[in-house]
Amino acid sequence: MTAPTYLDGNFAPVATELTATDLEVTGAVPPGLAGRYIRTGPNPFAAQADTYHWFVGDGMVHGVDLHGGQARWYRNRWVRSPEASAHLEESPVPHEDGGWYPGSGNTNVFAHAGRILAVTEGSLPYELTGDLDTVATRNFGGPLPGGINAHPKFDPNTGEMHVMSYGFDNPAMRYHVIDPSGDLASTVDIDLPAPVMLHDMGLTATRVVLFDLPVLFDLELALQGVSLPFRWRPDNGARVGLLPRGGTASDVLWIDVEPCFVYHPLNAFDAGDRVIIDLVVHDHAFAEGREPLSERPRLERWTIDPKARKVLTETIDDRGTEFPRGDERLTGRRHRYGYTIGLPSVGALGALGDDPRTAVRKHDLVGGTTVEVDLGPGRIASEMVFVPDDGSAGEDDGWLMGYVYDAARGASDLVIIDAHDFGRPVATVHLPVRVPQGFHGNWIPDSALA
Ligand SMILES: [Fe+2]
Repeated sequence: MTAPTYLDGNFAPVATELTATDLEVTGAVPPGLAGRYIRTGPNPFAAQADTYHWFVGDGMVHGVDLHGGQARWYRNRWVRSPEASAHLEESPVPHEDGGWYPGSGNTNVFAHAGRILAVTEGSLPYELTGDLDTVATRNFGGPLPGGINAHPKFDPNTGEMHVMSYGFDNPAMRYHVIDPSGDLASTVDIDLPAPVMLHDMGLTATRVVLFDLPVLFDLELALQGVSLPFRWRPDNGARVGLLPRGGTASDVLWIDVEPCFVYHPLNAFDAGDRVIIDLVVHDHAFAEGREPLSERPRLERWTIDPKARKVLTETIDDRGTEFPRGDERLTGRRHRYGYTIGLPSVGALGALGDDPRTAVRKHDLVGGTTVEVDLGPGRIASEMVFVPDDGSAGEDDGWLMGYVYDAARGASDLVIIDAHDFGRPVATVHLPVRVPQGFHGNWIPDSALA
């Protein structure tokens, strides 16, 4: 099939904001869950098919509130960027200083220091209320000239938020630590030979994993007005860096890898001197046709050996995968399990093509096994997040939760499956509308907002 325009099928935006309280549920919502699942994604107001790119659509958050075994509401709300406020004929929300641009909040939504934050890389996050209304942008006290990336790592032991940002001249990369009360505590500026796109990072108990991979900002494309002016440039080489936590830019040890692109690590941890990081690897990105995803991204384990200055790469699953998640109580610590979405093609994400289908996979990285649940024809998963059972000790003792588009119904479900007894459906909350294919989200328990 041809590449999607990102405006067809379930990539298409929805036209209205809705609050629905009478939600039909198949199964039983786990009674201990008290909070809301929120996921963000692009939902453009007025996209032109010949110029639109999925990564740049106006951000819309979709949330389901779960309390006492009940699905109390579904809401979808545009994040009130200046453009969104103008489209909706509302006064703009307050903006603090920082970021390259106002951003749209379309890439990730998470909680830190009692606040719910929705962010697009390069911009400041937008604070949301528990009912998904936009309050203001936040700069953590600043300065954050490049905003933040959309994939912070939360150290479960310290309560810190670690996050990268990047820019188009030096310092091309910045590493920030936000303290547990939500104030910017430190920044390390890192110069690079060329300005690269940087999506995510790795964090262990002692080190930060940096990616200098060959998707380069392209001035020629920028001057043509291309909305994402990046180009695959394997001639620039590819490196991973290890930065000791608390270190400076001169402490970064760079090690060459084969040219590839990484959007999303699953987790990283120390193994003696070495760092092990599990991640989804694309052969390329923004190459021919400037398609951001390669044909069959694979789950790999990289063992980074700073003494030998080598990276050992091992394939865990080569069947086409993205959206890796795990138990974030183990961020930076050795994990056993990881969860991914089986992704046969980009078009399948939008339920395009003859037999679009997706699977949810559980990888046992100690046992070396993978099990998967095929969601069935025309049922298209988004990212599935791991939600631990309250007070549980086991790494896989909890649920996976995420939106699944059902093409037959023309609407989406919030699907909750058992992560331990893997694949057992616990509850399916039937939403009255589609949730367009989007990016990342999180379960935000009431305790995160206390
Ligand atoms: Fe991402």
